[in-house]
Amino acid sequence: MEEFMRDKLKSFFTEHWTYMAVSSACKLDLFDNLQDAKTAKQLVEKLSLNEEKLLLLLNALHNAGYLDKSGHYFKVNSISEFLIGNNPESLKYACLNWSSEHLTAWQYLDYSIKTGKSSFEEIYGEPFFDYLNNHPEKLDAYHKAMYEYAKDDYKNLSDVIDFSKHKSVMDVGGGYGAVLENIKNKTPNLECILFDLPQVIDKVSIPSIKKISGSFFDIIPNQTETIILSRVLHDWNDKKVSIILKNCFEALPNNGTLYVIENCSDKIKIDLSLLSLNMTAMCESYERASTQYILLCKNTGFQFHSETKLNELQTILIFEK
Ligand SMILES: C[S@@+](CC[C@H](N)C(=O)[O-])C[C@H]1O[C@@H](n2cnc3c(N)ncnc32)[C@H](O)[C@@H]1O
Repeated sequence: MEEFMRDKLKSFFTEHWTYMAVSSACKLDLFDNLQDAKTAKQLVEKLSLNEEKLLLLLNALHNAGYLDKSGHYFKVNSISEFLIGNNPESLKYACLNWSSEHLTAWQYLDYSIKTGKSSFEEIYGEPFFDYLNNHPEKLDAYHKAMYEYAKDDYKNLSDVIDFSKHKSVMDVGGGYGAVLENIKNKTPNLECILFDLPQVIDKVSIPSIKKISGSFFDIIPNQTETIILSRVLHDWNDKKVSIILKNCFEALPNNGTLYVIENCSDKIKIDLSLLSLNMTAMCESYERASTQYILLCKNTGFQFHSETKLNELQTILIFEK
């Protein structure tokens, strides 16, 4: 038994090697290039790689179940086809997301545990979203990753909330617009406004969605009676959350509606401690309970109206001004 435990631990220490191999393959566009079976030699010619080391990676991916192999030929299988960039169901950028700055921040988690501060900020010298805005390629990769997750996470949104009762809706911190695309599909006549930082807004072109750029820490324009804050508040500490909520409150007319969509730790059976540690390392934040979001909103002046489940993880908290 003791030996079994020790062996289990020894394998556990290097479990991340498989993910890093898959992520490196994404970075090298290997899966994109293996939609048709190819040999290592053929890939080397196309992508200028080291043949001996590429063969090691291809065999590792095959043995871990991420590539099919026949003779000297490798090909994507039913899992890795989701790591091809132009697959409409792709998770390529979601895969890449966790292997760069996130992984570095996790390496210094001990700093966050000692200080309560973001290890990301300590390492990179600026807060996460500032860093993204100063690195356009990183910004684009991050938002593509968020969009890939969002397409799954928000697919039931318009079934759960009837947005047709509103005249317009503004998604504040809406990224590449997955939430509004979902709403627009069900309620094409609703005016939809995407609000995010200028560097993000500049990259989005969704027909029939109005774009406004700005920072939710400065001012949110009063152009709608409905605001959505989805997976925004969990990025910030209580002080910053209060500023965002105050600006939402000021942007809305009386009787306006605020939808807060978050993973609420008290509403699900899954333990969110690891996700909270990730938020701590990246942004000095954490996954809150619904009661904490409700209190923060009430302190800004909002009245809690009701709540509804969006999916296994996320809850929609509905407030009125
Ligand atoms: C975790 S992402 C959530 C994106 C999207 N709402 C979703 O659920 O997939 C946080 C979003 O907040 C935006 N954001 C960060 N700082 C901002 C600021 N100061 N003003 C406006 N948006 C900001 C980011 O660009 C990003 O789109």
